[in-house]
Amino acid sequence: MKFIEAKKFNFDDVKDMSDSQLQQHYILYTRYVSAINKVSIEMNDIGLYENCNSNFSELRNVQIALSFNLDSVKLHELYFENMTGLNNKIHGKIQTVINQYFGTYESFVDKFKCIGLSMRGWVVFCYDSFTNDYYIYGQDSHNTEISMNTYPIIVMDVYEHAYMIDFGIDKSKYIDTFFKNLDFNVINSRFEL
Ligand SMILES: [Fe+2]
Repeated sequence: MKFIEAKKFNFDDVKDMSDSQLQQHYILYTRYVSAINKVSIEMNDIGLYENCNSNFSELRNVQIALSFNLDSVKLHELYFENMTGLNNKIHGKIQTVINQYFGTYESFVDKFKCIGLSMRGWVVFCYDSFTNDYYIYGQDSHNTEISMNTYPIIVMDVYEHAYMIDFGIDKSKYIDTFFKNLDFNVINSRFEL
């Protein structure tokens, strides 16, 4: 595994979210980066593979920590990148896909928001290369409730740490603010990979 460096994000144009909310969330992300790098070091320890036990073993702990921390890093980067506050008018490929699969952008937002209010971790609009189809996944944790061969297009953090400083328990207002800050240029670029 490669060493991961924390990315930098420009929050200057993010609207209706405070610097404190965004910076504390960023710090939390960097802790996940540190954690995955520790996992990476541990995985190279040959002694780890001397106790192969599913009841209790350090190898088991490391395996569980691997996808948890790596997915958290990936999801936070995708989230910060698609929430710049710029290019907020829907256009391009994402508009075509949403209109095809959801009828209207408003219908998509209503469903995405409702899933966000129903889940405790993440909402991810994905393309699945296995089924050649699109899905909105709601996740209670970084590495649960999502399927293989899934490529994330729109990512929203709905953990309480993502909004409590600015919005208290008003998760609905936070989700509306998230949509005001979605960057459709970034989202459209994700179809090109
Ligand atoms: Fe988060």
